[in-house]
Amino acid sequence: MPGASAEQVHIAPSLLSADFGRLAQAAAAVAPATDWLHLDVMDGHFVPNLTIGPPVVASLRPHSAALFDCHLMMTNPGEFLAAFRDAGANSVTVHVEVGDTAALLEEIRRLGMRAGLALNPDTPLAAVEEHLAALDLLLVMTVFPGFGGQAFMEEVLPKIAAARRAIDERGLHVLIEVDGGIAEGTVEKTARAGARVFVAGSAIFHAPDPAAAVRDLERRALDAIA
Ligand code: DX5
Ligand code: ZN
Repeated sequence: MPGASAEQVHIAPSLLSADFGRLAQAAAAVAPATDWLHLDVMDGHFVPNLTIGPPVVASLRPHSAALFDCHLMMTNPGEFLAAFRDAGANSVTVHVEVGDTAALLEEIRRLGMRAGLALNPDTPLAAVEEHLAALDLLLVMTVFPGFGGQAFMEEVLPKIAAARRAIDERGLHVLIEVDGGIAEGTVEKTARAGARVFVAGSAIFHAPDPAAAVRDLERRALDAIA
């Protein structure tokens, strides 16, 4: 259908797959191709891995004009929301599995950030439905969180499609973001299912030319929904 491809997609490079000693250079490498950057915050408790916190976000902020899309894989995100805002986060996503969801989303908004809600591969859509109206972003995990470089879970595709229907039926403007194993082949499938923000770590930062990898993923997503 002519004109139907006007919908926007966003590629959010995940710094988890970058060299942590050269984060500013990694951000600069993708800056010509996208204005999003995905920062994976892991607490060693909600997930079995430890990564970055507010001081690292703050150190990176002067080196990047990108939208900092902070994915908090933490048991107690509420204790750190103001610290992430002060560090320069633009968008903060919390996991529905940690509970206290309505209050967390309200606090993220009150702090002036975009509010995101994430759900794990084995968490049903029903767990987030009551919160859809309070969201800017719904992050549907396509791997179990904790590590980069895992294989995309095909079985999550119907949940992405169901999320898209639920959002559209309510007339909401919530972006569906997918995270985990997004690369050539899976970016198209998730785009067709209704995703519009695509997090990719290894497919971008393990590529010889990260900016070219971003542009390739973007073109694949746009072609898939055209
Ligand atoms: C996984 C993180 C992802 C991860 C994706 O827990 O939330 O953002 O970096 O990495 P790839 O694209 O390599 O699956
Ligand atoms: Zn992530």
